[in-house]
Parts: sequence; C-alpha cells; structure tokens
Amino acid sequence: MRTMTCIEDLRQAARRQVPRAFFDYVESGSYAEQTLNANRADLEAVKLRQRILVDVSHRSTRATILGEPASLPLALAPVGLCGMQHGDGEILACRAAQEADIPFCLSTMSICSIEDVAAAVDKPFWFQLYVMKDRGFVRALIERAAAAKCSALLLTVDLQVLGQRHRDIKNGMTIPPELRIRNFIDIASKPRWALGIARAKRRTFGNLAGHIGGMDDVNSLSQWVAGQFDETLSWKDVEWIASLWRGKLILKGILDVEDARTAVKTGAAALVVSNHGGRQLDGAPSSIAALPPIVEAVGSSIEVLFDGGVRSGQDIMRAIALGARACLSGRAYIYGLGAGGQAGVARAIEIMKNELSVSMALTGVTGIDKIDRSVIAAV
Ligand SMILES: Cc1cc2nc3c(=O)[nH]c(=O)nc-3n(C[C@H](O)[C@H](O)[C@H](O)COP(=O)(O)O)c2cc1C
Repeated sequence: MRTMTCIEDLRQAARRQVPRAFFDYVESGSYAEQTLNANRADLEAVKLRQRILVDVSHRSTRATILGEPASLPLALAPVGLCGMQHGDGEILACRAAQEADIPFCLSTMSICSIEDVAAAVDKPFWFQLYVMKDRGFVRALIERAAAAKCSALLLTVDLQVLGQRHRDIKNGMTIPPELRIRNFIDIASKPRWALGIARAKRRTFGNLAGHIGGMDDVNSLSQWVAGQFDETLSWKDVEWIASLWRGKLILKGILDVEDARTAVKTGAAALVVSNHGGRQLDGAPSSIAALPPIVEAVGSSIEVLFDGGVRSGQDIMRAIALGARACLSGRAYIYGLGAGGQAGVARAIEIMKNELSVSMALTGVTGIDKIDRSVIAAV
C-alpha cells in the first residue's frame, strides 16, 4: 500500500481488481454527469492561500463531529453494495474507520447487515436510512439500528425517485440484475475479487434478506426495493422518524437554503450538503457551490457536514474553509476498499489525513478550528 500515494492510485488499482460492472457503478453519475463533474471542477477551482514563516510545528487535524472527537474532520459516507467492491466490504471499511478514529456510516442497501457489522466491530457506527413505502419495515430498521447501538441515524432525503445511470443499464446492473456473458468473462479475470466474495458472509442485501416475507435472493429483493421508493415522502415523514429515533439525527441530501432552514426545525443534529455524489438531479449545482449560502443561513443552529467530490486533504480543507464542520467521503474510500480491502480503506484515510496536515502547514494554520475563509486565495 505504501506505493499508493494518492486516491487516484487507489482508483486505478480498484479499476484493475473489481469487475467492471461494480467499478462503473461506483464511478457513475446520473444522466450527462454534469453535476458529478461539477463537484470535482468547482472544488479544484477553490485556490488555497500559501502563507510562509508561521510556526506550524504544533498542529493537529483533530476535530469534533456531532460532539464526538475524531482524528480528522472526515466520516465514511453510506455506500450501497459496498460488499460487492470487496467481500465483507462494510465490515472492513468500518474497522478501518474505527482504527483511524473517524465515523463510519452503514447504508440501508449494504451487503453486510446492521447486526453483522455490529458483531464484527468494537465501537458504534452510524446507520443510513432510506424511507421505503413499507413503513413497518422502516420502523423495524430503526429499532434494529437502536438495538445495534448505532450512534446516529442518517436519513437520506434526496432519493424518492432514482436518477438514471447509463453505465449501470449498459452493464446489466439493473433490477433484476442481468448478468451477461461479458460479465462472466470479466469476473473470471478477477480471481482475487471472486475469492473474497465467495468467502464473504453474504452476497445479497443484508438488511433486507429474511426480513421481507422470507425473501433472500438478490433478484426478488432488488425487485422489492424498486417498488419501494416512495414519491409521497415529505417533511411529515421526517417528523415521524425523528419521533422514533431517540439519538442524533442527520439529514443528508440538502442543497437548497430553504430546505436547510426547514431541516433546522426538525431538531436534527446535523445536515449534509450533498447531491448524492452527482447521482441524482443532474444539472444541480456542485455541493461546494451550495455550501456557503447554507452555512450562512443555518450554520449557527445546526452542524453542517459536506460531501461530493472529496478526493484529497486539500478538498477537505476547502470545504472546512467554506464552513463545513466535516466532510463525508464516498468514492475515495470505496476505491481503497476495491484496491485492498481494509488496508486500502485505511490507506485512503491516511492519504487524505496527511494531505490535510501538510496543507494546514503550508497555509499557516495549526488547528481545524482555525481553518476559515482566510485560507482561501483571492485569485
Ligand atoms: C456507489 C455509491 C453508492 C451510494 N449509495 C448510497 C446509499 O446507499 N445511501 C446514501 O445515502 N448515499 C449513497 N451514496 C452517496 C454517498 O453517500 C455520498 O453522498 C457520495 O458518494 C459523495 O460523493 P463522492 O463519492 O464524490 O465522495 C452512494 C454513492 C456511491 C458512489
């Protein structure tokens, strides 16, 4: 892993090791991928201000996220089908996050279940909830997350319909999955991946299997999920969920100032400025463009987290400078997972942490709480 010096190296390694249909599933954005591309382009356009001759010998990347200490202002975002990038992927990613002392968030659409992950790790993790039409199932999921002692419930609010990803259709990543001859040939050329998947606890949606009328195969479960996206979803449902969950609630998928103001009224502890990694509304602004007005409107009354396009410590610094409390990483750690399992995720976190620390030194700041707009160059 030492020769993996940046997230792009991990991405290239993941591309070599993970079957194409699953790698493309991670890479893709919706439709023309304008928002996906804007996430990166707009982050890169934020220039950092080099400062010199400041004593930065005592500096720290330590941060506080939802009142808990973390080694850097970063959490691992919920990613569906993580366990198809690497066998037992969710457990490995959670372990890497906990060893690095940052939060991990498990997706509703994970391969390992809430209970699998809870049994395999030492500390609490966050659980991400999608609200399905079957509210009985939603209530049961919330109860399962509470029983597993999850430390926060992250409710994703930007997916009541699904943005289309062209590559998924072309690769047969559809509902039900359509495995084609070329998928089999591709999988046959990735023996290490196949062995890891074969040895893994599960190969289906772990949180759903056995909990929905006894269904447990991928085809029937994915068909069930497809019929479960709820277009009636509204702020009333958020109230209902807030009434069921006694712990910290995070609302993820907010891109608009008005919505951010409403989010504050729900009593949520945090919101995540996010466009789902450019996978939902194509043509929406980049997350980094949406961040400053939201921080200005609600930053003093709720913790504002950020995701979308974070691939380096410099990107974390940019988001913190524009008012985020912490960032969530999606693809960056998933590349690490595909490239090398737990060690790969650990490497992704370490790379971004080191980059953040060096960037702090070169911008002349010694603590995360000192990163503000003054580190941004006016060019
Ligand atoms: C492959 C993939 C699967 C995802 N699955 C989920 C999910 O199940 N639930 C969710 O709330 N967000 C999901 N997201 C969105 C991420 O949580 C996060 O918002 C996004 O990846 C951030 O952008 P980045 O990948 O550029 O870091 C997914 C993203 C990717 C790339």
